[in-house]
Amino acid sequence: MLNSKVVQLLNEQINKEFYSAYLYLDFSNYFYDKELNGFGNWYRIQAQEERDHAMLFLQYLQNNGEKVTLDAIAKPAVELTDSMTVLREGLKHEIYVTGLIHTIYDAAYSVKDFRTMQFLDWFVKEQCEEENNADSLIKKFELYGSDPRSLYMLDSEMAARVYAAPSLVL
Ligand code: FEO
Repeated sequence: MLNSKVVQLLNEQINKEFYSAYLYLDFSNYFYDKELNGFGNWYRIQAQEERDHAMLFLQYLQNNGEKVTLDAIAKPAVELTDSMTVLREGLKHEIYVTGLIHTIYDAAYSVKDFRTMQFLDWFVKEQCEEENNADSLIKKFELYGSDPRSLYMLDSEMAARVYAAPSLVL
């Protein structure tokens, strides 16, 4: 049996991850509308990854015999004014998610819940990759975004991303 505070935070994280999926789907739609279909593809796959994250939290709770309560998913709260704003909001969001994961970890640590800490280890590492990816997109857009030919090449690079199931299996 898991600690009730840890369960509450894990349950809330399901909703946060689905919100992330919803947010990135919004980003994806923004780029498809701009005919930057590579960026659209990249964020659509990102949305799929977030859905996977949500399902991992859900499965972990169920594997531990805990009840899952689903909440409403909020409307994406970011105003998509231009491409650079979208990319910057992506990084901001990932830093926020890292904080959420650390909060759950802290709660698990405080009650010596080693099982949940081990489960969360994958997410701690994943957040490093998520922040790096978001930061890299910003830097690439700063370098190439204002030149149409370079942007076309960058968009083609983004189009090459393919979906891969998460390496964490429960
Ligand atoms: Fe579920 Fe982008 O972290």
